[in-house]
Amino acid sequence: MATITDAKQIAEIKLDGKSFEFPVITGTENEKGIDISKLRDQTGYVTLDIGYKNTGATKSAITFLDGENGILRYRGYEIDELAAFASFTEVAYLLIYGELPNAQQLSEFESGIKENSDVPIGVQTMLNSFPSTGHPMGMVASSVCSLSAYYPESLDFHRPEAKKQLTFKRLMGKFPVIASWVHRRKTGSNFLDPNPNVSYTSNFMGLMFGHEGKEYEIDPVVEDAINKLLILHADHEQNCSTSTVRIVGSSQANLYASIAAGVTALWGPLHGGANQEVIEMLEMIKADGGDVSKYVEKAKDKNSNFRLMGFGHRVYKNFDPRARIIKKACDDVLSKLGINDSILEIAKGLEEAALSDDYFKERKLYPNVDFYSGIIYRALGIPTEMFTVMFALGRLPGWIGQWREMVQNGEPIGRPRQIYIGPNQRPFVPIEQRA
Ligand code: SDX
Repeated sequence: MATITDAKQIAEIKLDGKSFEFPVITGTENEKGIDISKLRDQTGYVTLDIGYKNTGATKSAITFLDGENGILRYRGYEIDELAAFASFTEVAYLLIYGELPNAQQLSEFESGIKENSDVPIGVQTMLNSFPSTGHPMGMVASSVCSLSAYYPESLDFHRPEAKKQLTFKRLMGKFPVIASWVHRRKTGSNFLDPNPNVSYTSNFMGLMFGHEGKEYEIDPVVEDAINKLLILHADHEQNCSTSTVRIVGSSQANLYASIAAGVTALWGPLHGGANQEVIEMLEMIKADGGDVSKYVEKAKDKNSNFRLMGFGHRVYKNFDPRARIIKKACDDVLSKLGINDSILEIAKGLEEAALSDDYFKERKLYPNVDFYSGIIYRALGIPTEMFTVMFALGRLPGWIGQWREMVQNGEPIGRPRQIYIGPNQRPFVPIEQRA
């Protein structure tokens, strides 16, 4: 039975008639954790927390989430202020280096990205070897990992910080190019080269939708929407894909491999893949006559294997601040672009029906970042299969910042324990004696 005595901030655990004390750690936002680093040494016990719902993997200074109050801050800055006033490259710098850049720092960071946005031609050869029907996330992950073959110095985990920073800029520069080439491989369009004379978001959209030899003019509404969406996806503390990047990095695998691992973890429909699933779900509801209550009931039926994609969150138990910002941006972007997408009305109707239903209220299930984002991506002409690639493009600086923090903290290789429940020792049985 654990009793936490606040006086000394000590957690006391009584086991097998003995009493063990463990320090309580308090973060800068007053989150409290019991430091059990010495639990097994002292007690012989491990903890069991499947899915790590109650387990802190690290101490981080990058992103703060308050799930009860719907708070999200990057390095102390509120997400709604960053989304409203910052550029994505400013936020990327903030997440990676810890401070908002001054004008010179931003200019140098952006120049470094532009100077390192050339992608080896071999990646085009590799993309052309994939079937055009392949899912973009697999192509992106493979291409990002392949960069370690072109930049073998990245395999030196102990190279100086300046060399590591070159890799950060190479990733920030090459990722949007790779993402656009994957899209163009799938659409059969020729691959374009990056344009160093425009913003990060404008360069990306030009790579995606531009035409060879023709200047791509981005609509300011589109540029603002993409900038905002990339910022809103940029980091989210120890989520599944970020934890993957950190644990792969903790083995001292190179950063390209760690980021590629993050891309593959994000692919899952319970994580970043949900934004694609949401649109497919909304399309299905529309094709089925738009009866949202039928799908709310289906989501409550445990035997249906159906969930409202874009709903629920491991941490947010009130509302996802990103969903609120994106929902507002939906109306804004679609009206400015003169798009009337009935899917948006279906989404709003589904949200209203779910939020008035006890099943969702009791389980504190609210729209998350993925619920409305796809509606904007769709309005911007981004294919549904590319939605999770957009998520990864936004999350990239967060992954880089988290990897850098893990390295700078000198964290050990991540290696969770388990409780074994398999067979006890038994003698080998030769095959002729087996049933
Ligand atoms: C992201 O971690 C992050 O920060 C992730 C992310 C980021 O920025 O990195 O925010 C991005 O991944 C957002 C989430 C995107 N995924 C989805 O929208 C998929 C649909 N949602 C879920 O499957 C679910 O809500 C999760 C995966 C998001 C959270 O799962 P948990 O915390 O493990 O919760 P759970 O599966 O244990 O569900 C608790 C209860 C269960 O019912 P009971 O067993 O208690 O009766 O809520 C139910 C679940 O069945 N439930 C849902 C539901 N989500 C949870 N029921 C219907 N529809 C849903 N969407």
